[in-house]
Amino acid sequence: MANRTAGVGKFAWLNGTFVTAQEARVSPFDRGFLFADGVYEVAAVYNGQLIDLERHLERLERSLRELGYPKAPDRRQLEVMHRELVTLNGIEEGLVYLQVTRGAYGGRDFAAPAQPRLTMFAFAEGKQLLDTAAHRDGIRVIATPDIRWARRDIKSVGLLAQAMAKTEAKAAGKDDAWFVDAGGTVTEGASANAWIVTQDGDIVTRALSNDILAGVTRLAMMDLVSQTGGKIIERSFSLEEAKQAAEAFATSAVALVTPVVELDGVRIGDGAPGPVTRRMQALYRQAIGAR
Ligand code: PDD
Repeated sequence: MANRTAGVGKFAWLNGTFVTAQEARVSPFDRGFLFADGVYEVAAVYNGQLIDLERHLERLERSLRELGYPKAPDRRQLEVMHRELVTLNGIEEGLVYLQVTRGAYGGRDFAAPAQPRLTMFAFAEGKQLLDTAAHRDGIRVIATPDIRWARRDIKSVGLLAQAMAKTEAKAAGKDDAWFVDAGGTVTEGASANAWIVTQDGDIVTRALSNDILAGVTRLAMMDLVSQTGGKIIERSFSLEEAKQAAEAFATSAVALVTPVVELDGVRIGDGAPGPVTRRMQALYRQAIGAR
């Protein structure tokens, strides 16, 4: 799909106003900067349409609630803003990133103000999501200890462990990373949910808890599979089980459904995307109106 914009779009949005991305400024005293006191969402755009925007905004509100923010931003305003950013930037395929932090107060106080003045920032990016080499051939993933905090269900901007994991993967000549907890089970990918297909053909992904993010794409996939009479098994799986799986894949608003063909140096299945993963890709394509 041809994008009129590739890369970060010219127009961004800051605290209710459209500005150029270049002129957007926030205070260094922002609690997002000082304490990672903020949350974010990434919604995919395909055919100029936002995918599952409502679910992303619902999750944003939940993240803010869980962090004790007294009040959510206006949902309707955020919806309209998302659409306007897509249009203003001519995004056919790509994403909209939205970040909300507890704001700036001219100092550094660990305790949060009772009535925060939120900082809200959003930008759009033109990017090929579908029909990438990763979708066609699959990706190679390293396994790395899950050193993140205990509330991974909150989509916090505290992403240092994720950034380190992805950097480690690139340094090793691989594409991405999956986190493994102290008990040896896979929690999720550095920025995606993790799935395996067992040798018996069961499609397995970890059950929701504070250990992982409730992926919007994961939920969409579960809906799509159940609509076709299929079943997904929500349970934990070990890194060892994953290495011996018939297939593996990752889902996110950016990865959509990306096959994983190597995990921790071990080839998954025959080292090529398998038939179940291909079926998941086809279901998702159909759902977003791709040919
Ligand atoms: N990340 N798990 C983690 C840790 C994630 O960061 C993400 C998404 C997901 C998948 O969630 P969803 O299907 O709602 O995108 C799971 C986004 C894409 C990011 O950080 O860029």
